[in-house]
Amino acid sequence: MNKPKRYLVTSALPYSNGPLHIGHLAGVYVPADIYVRYLRMIGEDVRFICGSDEHGAAITLRAKKEGITPREIIDKYHEMNKRNFERFGMSFDIYHRTSDPLHHQTSADFFTVLNNKGVFTEKESEQYYDEEYQQFLADRYITGTCPKCSSEGAYGDQCENCGSSLDPTDLINPMSTLSGSTPVLKKTKHWYLPMGDYQEWVGNWIEAQQSKEVWKKHVVGQCRSWLTQGLNDRSMTRDLDWGVAVPLPDAEGKVLYVWLDAPIGYISATKALLPDTWEQYWKDEDCKLLHFLGKDNIVFHCIIFPMILHAHGDFVLPTNVPACQFLNLKGYKMSTSRNLAVWLHEYLDDFPEQEDVLRYVLTVNMPEGRDTDFSWEDFKDRNNKELVGILGNFVNRVLVLIHKYFDGIVPAETADIDTTLIDDALTNLPKELDKWVQRYEFRKAVDVVMDVAGVGNKFLADTEPWKLIKTDKAQTAAILTAGLKIIAYLSVYLEPFLPFTTPKLKAFLNLTEEDITAIKSGTFEVAAGRKINKASLLFKKLDDKAIAPQIAKLEAAQKAYDDSQKAEAAAAAGKTYEPLKPEISYEDFAKLDIRTATILAAEKMKKTDKLLKITLDLGFEQRTVVSGIAQHHQAENIIGQKVLILANLAPRKLRGVESQGMILMAGDGKNNLFFVSAHDAENGEGVS
Ligand code: MF3
Ligand code: ZN
Repeated sequence: MNKPKRYLVTSALPYSNGPLHIGHLAGVYVPADIYVRYLRMIGEDVRFICGSDEHGAAITLRAKKEGITPREIIDKYHEMNKRNFERFGMSFDIYHRTSDPLHHQTSADFFTVLNNKGVFTEKESEQYYDEEYQQFLADRYITGTCPKCSSEGAYGDQCENCGSSLDPTDLINPMSTLSGSTPVLKKTKHWYLPMGDYQEWVGNWIEAQQSKEVWKKHVVGQCRSWLTQGLNDRSMTRDLDWGVAVPLPDAEGKVLYVWLDAPIGYISATKALLPDTWEQYWKDEDCKLLHFLGKDNIVFHCIIFPMILHAHGDFVLPTNVPACQFLNLKGYKMSTSRNLAVWLHEYLDDFPEQEDVLRYVLTVNMPEGRDTDFSWEDFKDRNNKELVGILGNFVNRVLVLIHKYFDGIVPAETADIDTTLIDDALTNLPKELDKWVQRYEFRKAVDVVMDVAGVGNKFLADTEPWKLIKTDKAQTAAILTAGLKIIAYLSVYLEPFLPFTTPKLKAFLNLTEEDITAIKSGTFEVAAGRKINKASLLFKKLDDKAIAPQIAKLEAAQKAYDDSQKAEAAAAAGKTYEPLKPEISYEDFAKLDIRTATILAAEKMKKTDKLLKITLDLGFEQRTVVSGIAQHHQAENIIGQKVLILANLAPRKLRGVESQGMILMAGDGKNNLFFVSAHDAENGEGVS
């Protein structure tokens, strides 16, 4: 694409069936907001879309459980999420909702166009039906024993224990979650998207897109993995009474599948925002469309939604899908249903006026390429060392000293001092920042700006204006003026990351719109006579007491979860442990060459349930390993995973593929099997 004329940025529409947690923020909303704020800063035409996803079985299920209507659920959480996003400073241009009539119309029209074009295959099939409730059961309404890992409570579409995608008829002992009875199979008609027909098109399209602009490795890896497994027909309708009604006379009791509904919500939201000009953002090739989302939504946005848009015609397709992986809680996956999370609304209540602290901590720990962890200890340390210790300290010292020595007015009397380091840092800043933002690498981007505060801090430490003032007032003036210039630049370039802090910085220096334009064009100087305001607190130091209740709350939730898992495991079987193997010498151990590696690609091997063929990056080379973990991990879920590999194991052929080493796993191999890894080690580094 030539330089885009305009941008449309979407962030995944959260289900309005529960509150938002910091996993959502770190993986989707913070990166999207940084990107959009950056584009606005450099003067691009951008619209930022979000809203509530208000259909889908998760919502009706929750309503059933709580004995209220789906409408009550979505109204409650739509308002709550919208409000907390606002409190957190999310800069959406619109926060729409898919229950809006405009959306129902838009997605129903999509269905009609596709149907009239003959895109769908109509098929009758047998599906589970609850006779007591006289209702067909959506996948999520059926639970049973997983055929792959034998764990109880697997859903009709997925086993949450082993991650396998399932079909409801795969479940052993299926049970309806509505009545608790065994469902019966009954015939029903649905409209299917023959994804196989589009497989070649979508494969070529993805390869072409990711050769034009860098796509993240784990995104491409997940797509390729889906494509190698082959795409099947996928039903685009459901037997449900909640959702967008299928716009056909013979389709009573049927609604659109949520993936022919929710992503179209991006289009309806744009229509609501720009009733007259929305097409410029969806139909004009000069518009760059970007979807921000978590890894669980990659396939829907990279394969299914583009197919739908392509089959419909006239719409632009995404240029990139810079999806993130997950932010975990020291190894625990965040989960709404398990109440295992740090909730946004609680954070906002417990840490008033500290929105930017959370933004910052989530940015530096953003799960851009791999899963990362959040901890309250790290939150405190980052706040104290980086925001208070570097940024806040630097700004505060400059402002205090300019008031102490010069009454808050930039002095005319000044001297020549060597500011090469500062000048270089400020000249490089916009270029470096642009480079990382355009690559969706926001951790590096924020570092680039924070490093400038570091340069400022070091400059003060080296020049010691508080000592120099006794001997050389003119030089002191020059040093503080240089410090003010750094603050001016920070007030502009930190805006995408710390939007609550930068208006304060601008206000300290009384920056006008013209000043800001001058900063952006690199021509700004702090002129004599400029009035500087007194410093006010930017960030406050946190002590252990401030985070202790948070740690306790999280530990309680984790313990409750562990206990429930243990109870389940104990129920599953009286656990036995393997006896220890005979002792070995250190020399025996030293023969093992264990290295850190990252999974680049994975695919299920044909004709076996157990084996995955995995491509690994060892830093100095790539390798293929065949691993017997397919019953515990889905190929597309492990791309980007850091692992340890026994790298000097003699190669061995398994089903015709040479396996060059062994991935280390922990667990009993029956109910669970976990990767062993050192997240912070570089690929190729050894274990000793
Ligand atoms: N509500 C879903 C989720 O949170 C899907 C969001 S993406 C959209 O996972 F395309 F559907 F909006
Ligand atoms: Zn399973």
